[in-house]
Parts: sequence; C-alpha cells; structure tokens
Amino acid sequence: MSENIRLLNPQQVANFDVEYIDKSLFRLVCSVIDQNVHYPHQAHFLDVGGGNGLYADKLIAQYPGCFVDIVEPDSHMNTKNKPNDHKVLVNSVYQEFKGLQDYDMIQFNWVLHHFIAHSYAETHALQLEGLRSAYNMLGSEGIVIIFENFYEGKEHTNSPGKLIYQLTSSKLLKPITSALGANTAGVGVCFNSELHWREQLIKAGFSSVFSAHCYDFGNLNPFKKRILGIENQRVGMLVGIKTR
Ligand SMILES: C[S@@+](CC[C@H](N)C(=O)[O-])C[C@H]1O[C@@H](n2cnc3c(N)ncnc32)[C@H](O)[C@@H]1O
Repeated sequence: MSENIRLLNPQQVANFDVEYIDKSLFRLVCSVIDQNVHYPHQAHFLDVGGGNGLYADKLIAQYPGCFVDIVEPDSHMNTKNKPNDHKVLVNSVYQEFKGLQDYDMIQFNWVLHHFIAHSYAETHALQLEGLRSAYNMLGSEGIVIIFENFYEGKEHTNSPGKLIYQLTSSKLLKPITSALGANTAGVGVCFNSELHWREQLIKAGFSSVFSAHCYDFGNLNPFKKRILGIENQRVGMLVGIKTR
C-alpha cells in the first residue's frame, strides 16, 4: 500500500517541529494510560509519526522503564530525536512497519490526517487500514490514543474535510492553495469529523471507543470557514480499547 502514499516534503514537515501536547493534554493521556495499561512502567508504546521525539521523551520521563518505538519517515525530523536507551527510532512510513512487539498502547498524534493517497476514497481506505494494523499490533488489552483536528459541517457531516482534501491535494491548484496558507498544498490533508473517526475505530475492530473534547481552535477566517462549510473546528482525543 505504501506506493500509493503521498508524503509531505521536508520543508512542509519542518513546520511541525513543535510539541503540541501541553501539560493538561499530557495529564489527560496519562489518566487514560493509568486506567487501561496494567504495568505502564514496563509497557511498550508506539508513537506513529513521532516527529522530533519530544512526546516519546515525555512518556519515558513519566513511566521510567517503559519503551517507546517511534516510526517516522522524515529523516530531518529524526535527526532532532534525542537518543535514549528506551527509544527505538524507525525511519520508515508506518505502512511499511510491521511492529517490533505487541504494543500496550499505540499513539497517533496529528498524523492520521497525513495518510494521503491519490483519491479521497483511497485516502479513507489508507486511514482505516492504519487503524486496522494498529489493532493487529496491539496486545490483547492494548489501546490506541489519537489526537486529531476535527472538522465538522452542518449536523456533524464530514463535508469540510472532503473539500479541504480536494483543494489541498490538487497539483493544479497548488499555487493558489499555497498562497492561501495551506502547508499541505499539492500533497493533501484529510481531516474528518469526530463521528467519522469513531466509526473508523469501530470498523477497525476496537470493542470500546470514546472521545474527549480538548479545545476549539480557529485558524481560518470567517470567509474561509463559510466557503468550506465548517461549523466546528476542534481538537479532540479518541481512544480505542481492544478488548475488555
Ligand atoms: C503534524 S506532524 C505531528 C508530529 C508529532 N506526532 C507531534 O504531534 O508533534 C505529522 C508527522 O507525521 C509524519 N508522517 C506523515 N506521514 C506518515 C506516515 N505515512 N507514516 C509515519 N509518519 C508519517 C510526518 O513526517 C510528521 O512528522
């Protein structure tokens, strides 16, 4: 499936050299881990698209003894990752990664919307396949934790995300979308509604799914929001539990 993937170029990825999980979001993550992972200090975690590795460092500091595998395709980002005996850095796309063991928790922090293929339908299939393979790489009571930007149209529809995909993935429109400020211009980005992601987690096999609202954000002016049909734009955390 990886030959079908459209990746951002290093300059585009360099814009993500930040750490989005602040203290309160990390507290939220830890409460989910503490409730669902029996021995977090001995756990194996996987951070997909782990970027500069700062998030993995936080997990290791919080749960000394745990191990974190990071799968990240961007070589420049990987050079930013501080070496640590408890981290394994895999320079690869997730779609080619087979997993180094059964994981207790797999995390996708703002990465699933970068799983982009050559059409909207194939992109959704790639995202679902990503969740299915996470399900298969988890141990029997493993969990997946996802942070995503939710884009919602009227009545919780997924239409803004589809329009954003069509505009950003178009090579023809790249000069315009780029001038309008889209960092993903010419490659594409595929945001979804909270409801869509919850449905995908259930399709991927997770027997229990919940989500939490984190904060509203508004990086688009009212005109752009109206054109894109955006009713809500927020950051949320999704959790899928394999079995109970
Ligand atoms: C928005 S950044 C998020 C980085 C980090 N997770 C964070 O929250 O700060 C998206 C990251 O996903 C990575 N990425 C994109 N496509 C990927 C893929 N197919 N497999 C693994 N990582 C991918 C990018 O290289 C980038 O580092």
